[in-house]
Amino acid sequence: MPWTRRHLLTLEELSRAEIDQIHAAARVFKRTLQPGGARVPVLAGRTIVNLFLEPSTRTRLAFDMAAKRLGADVIPFDAASSSTTKGETLRDTAENIQALQADMIVIRHAAAGSPLYLSRILDIPVINAGDGAHEHPTQGLLDTFTMIEHLGDLRGRKVVILGDILFSRVARSNIHALTKLGAAVTLVGPSTLVPDSFTALGVKVSHDLRGALADAEVVMLLRIQHERQAAGHFPSLGEYTSMFGLNKARASWLNPRAIIMHPGPINRGVEIDSELADGERSVILEQVTNGIAVRMAVLFLCAGGRPEQLPT
Ligand code: CP
Repeated sequence: MPWTRRHLLTLEELSRAEIDQIHAAARVFKRTLQPGGARVPVLAGRTIVNLFLEPSTRTRLAFDMAAKRLGADVIPFDAASSSTTKGETLRDTAENIQALQADMIVIRHAAAGSPLYLSRILDIPVINAGDGAHEHPTQGLLDTFTMIEHLGDLRGRKVVILGDILFSRVARSNIHALTKLGAAVTLVGPSTLVPDSFTALGVKVSHDLRGALADAEVVMLLRIQHERQAAGHFPSLGEYTSMFGLNKARASWLNPRAIIMHPGPINRGVEIDSELADGERSVILEQVTNGIAVRMAVLFLCAGGRPEQLPT
């Protein structure tokens, strides 16, 4: 089935076949990341603007790396020194970037729906790098890619997502991808951050950490998204950690083969202790590396790349 989308806005709208197609291209691109791997300048002559209006380390750098490995010119956007500080709107900013002959925009923005909005007013592809608490599609793609590398086919695999689900775009994108790939997803955390309404997305909700961990083949930790919470959803960070933080004692409830994931940034000692984040079951830095291959696949496909251009 040929790839037909110009934009990547959400994983909610992708089919399983489309997710498989991105993963398949990412597997090819991952081989090119090895020492001596072939360069793939299929986007030579294209210009990609990384319009990041919220902070980022991993996503922005991985999109930079991905675009450069594909031969594209990458223009970073420095929000602090841009005319957004003088009141220029997102629409005007984006239309000016298009007028400056950009071929593609990668956007991170605090407002849910801002990538969809740009996709409706621009003629160039728009890639969502995280929009508010809505979605972070490339994170969901790289997380599921990493799980498949460790577990194979995800049908029936038990994945626990633990933490601040309510305000997490990473959780939403993972829920959409994992349910399409057939995984059994359980969301765990305090009821204020993991409301029962999430069951409408085809997942289980649990507040029994021990029971959920005992069954898990993957446990994904999420940080508390203070920047999106208007009011406290638990008495204190210390109390959250005492109830739901992953420490050595709680990790002993896990199946010894279970893998530990985190999208970053990590708040060490809050949602996860360092000895687990850095331990042998952690695949956190593999997630980061896989982020380059997955974003190469997304940029390649949305720019109109054809299968015959993929390296063999
Ligand atoms: N996982 C993630 O989105 O990290 P950054 O905020 O550093 O991009």
